[in-house]
Amino acid sequence: MDMSTRYLGLTLKNPLVVSASPLALDIGNVRKLEDCGAAAIVLPSIFQEDIENEIDEMERLIAEGNSEAFSYFPAHMSENVGPKNYLDLIRKAREAVDIPVIGSLNGTSRTGWIDYAKQMEEAGASAIELNVYFLATDLALSGADVEARYVEILTGVKKAVSIPVSMKLSPYFSSLGHMVKTLDQAGADGFVLFNRFYQPDIDLDELSLVRDLKLSHKGEIRLPLLWIAALAGNIKGSIAASTGVQTAVEVVKYLFVGADVVMTTSALMRHGVGYMKTLHDGLVADLKSREVEKLSDIRGRMSRGAVKDVAAFDRVNYIRILRSGAYNA
Ligand SMILES: Cc1cc2nc3c(=O)[nH]c(=O)nc-3n(C[C@H](O)[C@H](O)[C@H](O)COP(=O)(O)O)c2cc1C
Repeated sequence: MDMSTRYLGLTLKNPLVVSASPLALDIGNVRKLEDCGAAAIVLPSIFQEDIENEIDEMERLIAEGNSEAFSYFPAHMSENVGPKNYLDLIRKAREAVDIPVIGSLNGTSRTGWIDYAKQMEEAGASAIELNVYFLATDLALSGADVEARYVEILTGVKKAVSIPVSMKLSPYFSSLGHMVKTLDQAGADGFVLFNRFYQPDIDLDELSLVRDLKLSHKGEIRLPLLWIAALAGNIKGSIAASTGVQTAVEVVKYLFVGADVVMTTSALMRHGVGYMKTLHDGLVADLKSREVEKLSDIRGRMSRGAVKDVAAFDRVNYIRILRSGAYNA
């Protein structure tokens, strides 16, 4: 069976990709993930704030007349500037495995930090995943302002590098399809759907914010499923499904609606990195039972463009369900 797929112009041996998380900070994990069947690995994000802190520190040293700092860190982003550890992580991961290693850049504004993408490319990243983690809590910002920010950051990064760039997006746009199409036309090589925003809870006894990160559960695949089904076949860029994969069942569902690759973090954090083998073997077993010869036999077969009953995705179906009482507890 041919499980290979194309993602961001790269050929991957199968559609299973490790999404950004601290798991890949450990090179032992990176090796094990490859051994267990991962076809590519996204490294944890480097954050705009970290890059800017480093630039500030460099400028402070220069202002204090530290000539050594000056010769080592020429003004603004140069090849020697930026959180070195992240570039080392890229280099070490590249040396450790044969599968593509994707760097993740996380920020919100179009400023100098974007130039760091170039250094990620030079360190050996096969592609860059751009996570514009931006919560528009400023009530003066319009939807158009927010969208323009995404396009500006993408074009800034695209100018800085020649490797592919994917956009990791949240679902919270008033017209997500149009946003994706705009980024597609602006040169995004792919889309990771979706990013999960951190959502704080409240501790009512302490009257404080609870700062924890909940791992996902399988019910969360439904929103990405809906959108991937709508986008598949309508954009040039490739599509990575991200959120809610706990077993091979969710992987297969994502492929059916049109994902080129399927990413996972929570399941690996819950069960350990060796769980990648369970996902891989489960995927092989499922595809064999369907007598699939190659992934394209099933990919997108249940996308919005492919199914006969398009209403099943839509408002009409919602009304039908409400009237029939077919809800699950
Ligand atoms: C502990 C943890 C750390 C994460 N770190 C990052 C990160 O650095 N950058 C990023 O883009 N996403 C990060 N994510 C989000 C994941 O990459 C992924 O998009 C999200 O968890 C949904 O996928 P899942 O349901 O398979 O967990 C993190 C998630 C978790 C649980």
